[in-house]
Amino acid sequence: METLEGLATTFTDAGHRLPVLVECDTGMGRCGVQSADEAVALARQIDRTGGLAFGGLMTYPAAGKAAEAEAWLADAKQALAASGLACERISSGGTPDMWRSSDTSVVTEYRPGTYIYLDRYQVAKGVG
Ligand SMILES: Cc1ncc(COP(=O)(O)O)c(C=O)c1O
Repeated sequence: METLEGLATTFTDAGHRLPVLVECDTGMGRCGVQSADEAVALARQIDRTGGLAFGGLMTYPAAGKAAEAEAWLADAKQALAASGLACERISSGGTPDMWRSSDTSVVTEYRPGTYIYLDRYQVAKGVG
């Protein structure tokens, strides 16, 4: 909510609305809303803010928890649809699980970071 207040002071043109994604904590325990209900509440608040538009969901799943993240996001997408909010973009990421990213049905984009290096961390995870 605090972030929205800041964005709202800069993005005020309802004709050029800034798409804003709702970050979801799908198991990493780092940041993001904790439930589908919270995602809906924040998405609604984004859509009510003049220069902003609800752009979808994003997450950074815990390594090895891609399936749990998928289920979390699918529930949230359904809850958003039930509230009349289309969720066209669902962004996920994380190199260790990117090999399984084509198995997902709701994720629309993937953000691999250290993939380009396949460094010792990825070797330790068994993917490098
Ligand atoms: C929000 C977010 N997305 C994507 C990534 C990329 O993760 P990886 O380096 O495992 O590909 C990170 C890495 O910390 C991240 O914090």
